[in-house]
Amino acid sequence: MRRVLVNGHRSKGQINRNLYGHFAEHLGRCIYGGFYVDPGQTEIPQQGGLRLDVIQALKQLDIPLLRWPGGSFADTYHWQDGVGPKTSRRPMINAVWGGTLETNHFGTQEFLELCQRLGCEPYITGNTASGDIQELKAWVDFCNLPAGLPGAELRTACGYPEPWHVRYWGIGNEPWGGGKASDARFYALQYRQFARFLRSDPQHPLCRVACGASVDDYSWTQVMMQELGTEMDLLSLHYYTRPYKDWGQKGPATGFSRQEYYNTLENAFYMDELIENHSRIMRQYDPASKVRLAVDEWGTWFAPEAATNPAFLYQQNTMRDALVAAIHLNLFNNHCDTVAMANLAQTVNVLQALILTDGPRLLLTPTYYVFLLFKAHQAARQLETFAETQLISHGDASLPDLSASASQSEDGSVLLTLANLDDQNSQDLTIYLDGIGASPLHLPQAGGALLSGGLRGAGAYNCFEQPERVKPEQLAVTSAGPGKLIVRLPESSIAAIRVAL
Ligand code: AHR
Repeated sequence: MRRVLVNGHRSKGQINRNLYGHFAEHLGRCIYGGFYVDPGQTEIPQQGGLRLDVIQALKQLDIPLLRWPGGSFADTYHWQDGVGPKTSRRPMINAVWGGTLETNHFGTQEFLELCQRLGCEPYITGNTASGDIQELKAWVDFCNLPAGLPGAELRTACGYPEPWHVRYWGIGNEPWGGGKASDARFYALQYRQFARFLRSDPQHPLCRVACGASVDDYSWTQVMMQELGTEMDLLSLHYYTRPYKDWGQKGPATGFSRQEYYNTLENAFYMDELIENHSRIMRQYDPASKVRLAVDEWGTWFAPEAATNPAFLYQQNTMRDALVAAIHLNLFNNHCDTVAMANLAQTVNVLQALILTDGPRLLLTPTYYVFLLFKAHQAARQLETFAETQLISHGDASLPDLSASASQSEDGSVLLTLANLDDQNSQDLTIYLDGIGASPLHLPQAGGALLSGGLRGAGAYNCFEQPERVKPEQLAVTSAGPGKLIVRLPESSIAAIRVAL
């Protein structure tokens, strides 16, 4: 019997809701076919083109934040082409993702209406590659200035007198990538120029996100902190989980080998080291930790599905993806004193999606259910957690066999989320709850939910023919004395245990 201790006496603070953020790019079928369909069609329930089934599914997750319009697409995006009446919007070629026709029918108005319907904060990435300071400044003014002021006329003319007060603004995307090959010093100066020109109303201050490192480029972080210090609010980090180090070799999303399974999970844990190392550098220049990390692109990146456009990055989603998500979210919770935002790439039909669509059909992926099981961590107080783990060694992969985090909500209830990464052995766990406010004689009242692939194991996934193969079921949680619970986690499974005070 393995032991897990939840220690209510120690906490790293509040878990920022934005750690449960998402990302939607004009890429493949994420926007068109995913979030948005032609308002004239009658097959799919929509309002103003916004898919109501997608909105309903995402609302169940209480998603706090949505990043848009890219990614790399942001480098080519000119927001003025996508506002006003649809008939007068200027189409473009989406040169970054497959050379498809971009109608610009989904633009700022549609995105902000989508966020309003989802009840989430918008996070807009500005174009610092082919756009200039004036263009980004005018975008911020279009969104945020009160009606009647110069700069707000276009929004008012579009039928939106009330400002949207968009708080989160990304100053560019991956300046080191996509042929831009900017060096950190150059970008830091560019960041300063852009950031200083954006109007920040003291009542609605902007949160400016500077472009941070790719994976383990620690010198990028060092230079950014040296040059800018606390001139930025958040510094981003991008890291995708793959089974192989070589970018050319991504491995399949389904039908993967055991070695690919364990390599992928080992690489998911690499996020821990990245957060530790980047934040250590940041603290050298900012001891008060005013600037926090925004992991605004993370998730799995496998080979695209056969018979799909490879530029659309469409991949299936298995229990392996769900375990990658659980590892990340547990890590983010446990680093809530340094990470203030994270955005999974990319919500619908692209990379590690929560939702897949096929015309009018929609399915929820195993990753979707992880966000459902973990949602009560949002804005809760992180609690220190110790799990007795064993090292799994498989070929050249080695990783702990358990991942865990816990938090306490305002109502006193505790959520403990666990992942058993072992694909061949179940785990019997005794959970000790200490210092969570219950009397020492109190028998904890607990309930649990479990996500597993059942007989299909880590390779299980939902498809349009069988959309409910993987979904949460009830987990038996036994009270074994004051502050003590017992559970069994099957192979490759994820559990959410809720303890009421
Ligand atoms: O998420 C897909 C792409 O990955 C994004 O457009 C880019 O920012 C990153 O390289």
